[in-house]
Amino acid sequence: MKKGMLALLTLGALALSLNAYDENDRRQDMQTMEAAMGQIQKGILYNNKSLVVQGVDNLKTTAKNVQISPKGEMDYTPAFAKSQTKSIMVYADKVKADIEAGKKHSAADNYTKVLDQCISCHNKIRKWNQ
Ligand code: HEC
Repeated sequence: MKKGMLALLTLGALALSLNAYDENDRRQDMQTMEAAMGQIQKGILYNNKSLVVQGVDNLKTTAKNVQISPKGEMDYTPAFAKSQTKSIMVYADKVKADIEAGKKHSAADNYTKVLDQCISCHNKIRKWNQ
């Protein structure tokens, strides 16, 4: 009986640690978002709407994870991360609407606003500010 309980607890802990979103997951997602931002910029410059739309879709899929609290200490609050995620989504949608309407300058402005959300959070990362 005791052994059974222990096994269950161990399994539970294992499942939790497998599901936990850790620093490596975060870094991976950040790299995916960086690549998506690159696609968006490239799409604007090459006048390739579908590349921009693809970049926006990739960005939005991954940006959802920005609000997940990482294991261990964070330099920002979960509420802040959530609001940054929301803003990234809003401005990314605007980039998409702009490019579909053929408004490259507006698309570029909203692209910069997405970038500003990235930078606002990065400026809070203590080890990056030393
Ligand atoms: C709410 C916070 C937050 C937001 C918003 C955010 N990041 Fe990050 N970013 C981080 C953290 C935390 C790290 C990891 C720093 C470390 O541990 O080295 C990071 C690291 C990165 C890295 C470096 C990854 C590596 O392998 O070293 C890139 C690239 C990056 N972010 C891109 C982006 C882009 C693009 C956006 C916006 C679309 C963005 N980030 C938005 C928190 C954020």
